[in-house]
Amino acid sequence: MTRSPAPVAAPAHPQPAMGQPHPHESARAQVTGNASYIDDLPEVRGTLYAAPILSRIAHGHLHGVDASAALQLPGVRSVVLAADVPGDRLLAAFAHDEPVFAIDRVEYAGQVIGLVVADSVEQARRAARLVRADTTPLPAVLNVQQALAQQNYVLPPVFVRRGDAAAALARAPHRLRGQLEVGGQEHFYLEGQIAYALPQEQGQWLIHSSTQHPGEVQHWVAHALAVDNHAVRVECRRMGGGFGGKETQAGHLAVWAAVAARKVGRPVKLRLDRDDDFLITGKRHPFAYDWEVGFDDAGRIQGLKLRMAANCGFSADLSGPVADRAVFHCDNAYFLQDVEIASYRCKTNTQSHTAFRGFGGPQGVIAIETILGDIARALGRDALDVRMANLYGLGERNITHYQMPVEDNILHDLLPKLELSAQYRQRKEAISAWNARNTVLKRGIAITPVKFGISFTATLFNQAGALVHVYTDGSVQVNHGGIEMGQGLHTKVAQIVADELGVPLARVLVTASDTSKVPNASATAASAGTDLNGRAAQFAARNVRANLAAFVCGLDGCGAGEIQFQGGQVISPKAVRAWSDVVQQAYANRIQLWSDGFYRTPKIHYDKTTLTGRPFYYFAYGAACCEVALDTLTGESRVLAVDILHDVGQSINPAIDIGQIEGGFIQGMGWLTTEQLVWNEQGQLATHAPSTYKIPATGDVPARFRVALWPEANREDNVGGSKAVGEPPFMLAVAVYEALRDAVAATRADGACVHLTAPATAENLLRALGRLDTAAGREGG
Ligand code: MTE
Ligand code: MOS
Repeated sequence: MTRSPAPVAAPAHPQPAMGQPHPHESARAQVTGNASYIDDLPEVRGTLYAAPILSRIAHGHLHGVDASAALQLPGVRSVVLAADVPGDRLLAAFAHDEPVFAIDRVEYAGQVIGLVVADSVEQARRAARLVRADTTPLPAVLNVQQALAQQNYVLPPVFVRRGDAAAALARAPHRLRGQLEVGGQEHFYLEGQIAYALPQEQGQWLIHSSTQHPGEVQHWVAHALAVDNHAVRVECRRMGGGFGGKETQAGHLAVWAAVAARKVGRPVKLRLDRDDDFLITGKRHPFAYDWEVGFDDAGRIQGLKLRMAANCGFSADLSGPVADRAVFHCDNAYFLQDVEIASYRCKTNTQSHTAFRGFGGPQGVIAIETILGDIARALGRDALDVRMANLYGLGERNITHYQMPVEDNILHDLLPKLELSAQYRQRKEAISAWNARNTVLKRGIAITPVKFGISFTATLFNQAGALVHVYTDGSVQVNHGGIEMGQGLHTKVAQIVADELGVPLARVLVTASDTSKVPNASATAASAGTDLNGRAAQFAARNVRANLAAFVCGLDGCGAGEIQFQGGQVISPKAVRAWSDVVQQAYANRIQLWSDGFYRTPKIHYDKTTLTGRPFYYFAYGAACCEVALDTLTGESRVLAVDILHDVGQSINPAIDIGQIEGGFIQGMGWLTTEQLVWNEQGQLATHAPSTYKIPATGDVPARFRVALWPEANREDNVGGSKAVGEPPFMLAVAVYEALRDAVAATRADGACVHLTAPATAENLLRALGRLDTAAGREGG
């Protein structure tokens, strides 16, 4: 299996758009304020505004609602409750376990009981605060420990076993036990959740939604209004960030706005303010783990029993696939021979946790990286050596615990390259010397890899469609099922289409995602946006090109293979013609100038019940080297230096890819350092604004932040030889956590495990240092 980097086949003609660092298609519009988000769209006359009525208690019976005070306020038009839902009062979510508005029970503080509709946003919000819910509190389950004790689950537990973990543990020369808690994460998209529902003629609907999944919004709205899917059109030009938080949860907003619009017979806009957005919507799943691991003198894992408990909140939402992905990624890059994994999907009276960049992958990766860090310390070995010793093999020791062979492993080359370029060994020595001299400030360093499976684990979602229209002036319009959320999907798709037709990038325009153009599109998620939609658009463009090639062949009497499309020209052995001339002539000769394209990912299959098969088309790899400083008196820490070597295959757009790597890493760093969600004893989220919830700011970006791209194309046949990039770099931030544990370990030379709850806030670092009472506070839900 050792393969030297396969050079990408030299293209038949120059590829002017792909591979170039073209600016994001909306960059100029965004910085000049010309790019529209939902709240910028011109409003239709008669538009009303909604605000949510929230449950204040975490669990209780709901007997009724007193809205009399709210209804007396000026401008207030209506109060919308569960009884106003014309169709199913439960959302069309796959588990069918979530009401549109609370019916006779409230299940978390922040749950939406109804809406107030008024002439202005302010009137609606003021009135919503006056609505009184008549409730009787019930005991609430607020963390995974309580949920596990009561076997309170949103979905049944899943067990994955290979070999005999108990026997391997018994045989192993060394054994360790450990446990860990890792907190959730608020998405903090810049554009908050919003929907604008417009009744159209004859019972039809137009919904503007900031959503990663317009097709699902369409389906959910139709289900709640009891109309056919065809009567609902959902449109979204772009989102101001989604990060997974608008994969399902945008659907709630759209349904709420549509139900209100249906009741009042007017367009209704619902835009959550930031505090309400925090209180209502689900976040990254907090996880709790315990494990027992057996290993040899080199630190190679021989047996592992790992229990993972996900805090799912009050309903299933995407918790099943999120927890599955955590199971699929709790090996990260390492071969686990005898292993027993138990995954619990705990039900708590909190927000329903949902997709967030990495989709459970980060919660899997951090478990095994923590275990390996502990093993290295216990043996007094270098942590990178221990990680290298455990890597999936090339040709042997290469089958995952879910029975998929790892055939494209590049980490045996990538990790040593990063080790050298980051000067890991020299810096490690320098850090030891520095730590020996300094008693208060300690430094730490770590390299951690990532191996992330690309494809939706739900195989059916791995399909996409696109439309390519060529107009008679030669300009090209593309529409596909994906959503632009800042990640550069539309830019990459335009580059792909431009090269397929051999036209300059400026001639290609990507238009708003729209359920009436490409139907049944999957969510833009799982990092597969370009893989799926890019290929579908490429196929659509290829069809148009084939029509034009056949037309030119008819003129020149040559074979289709002899026609080239490049540089805005169509070149046959007989003549060189301008692209737009060929388009015009073809139109005059009644040649079809537009086409659809459809793509389905090959090779993948997977058995949901046993979690075995080939859920992923390929893996994306990378590694990060991170150095931190820790003030052992205050617990404050800083990330000083980051070196990343990451695999995006043959980059379609290196500027965008590097931006995704930087952004993903920093977002991961926030998850593991400063972003702490705190629920109080009543189950109310106490951190619901940037004043108390701290995302990384520009000042937190490390002074040295170097990102390099791995120079090898995808070994699987993926669009342009590229690999997906959206989520994998998030997990590189585990190097920050491991470097911080290294710094804590530098305060003592006993090789003991460093128990550091994530996020590694100053308080949690002080606890890890043994300088704070461990009983204080509750982290991570
Ligand atoms: N980048 C930006 N700027 N904004 C986002 O919301 N979402 C991330 C990632 N990068 C996101 C982002 C997530 S969670 C995913 S799954 C991918 O983008 C989705 O887009 P893609 O499949 O086109 O990479
Ligand atoms: Mo990304 S969490 O798959 O939207």
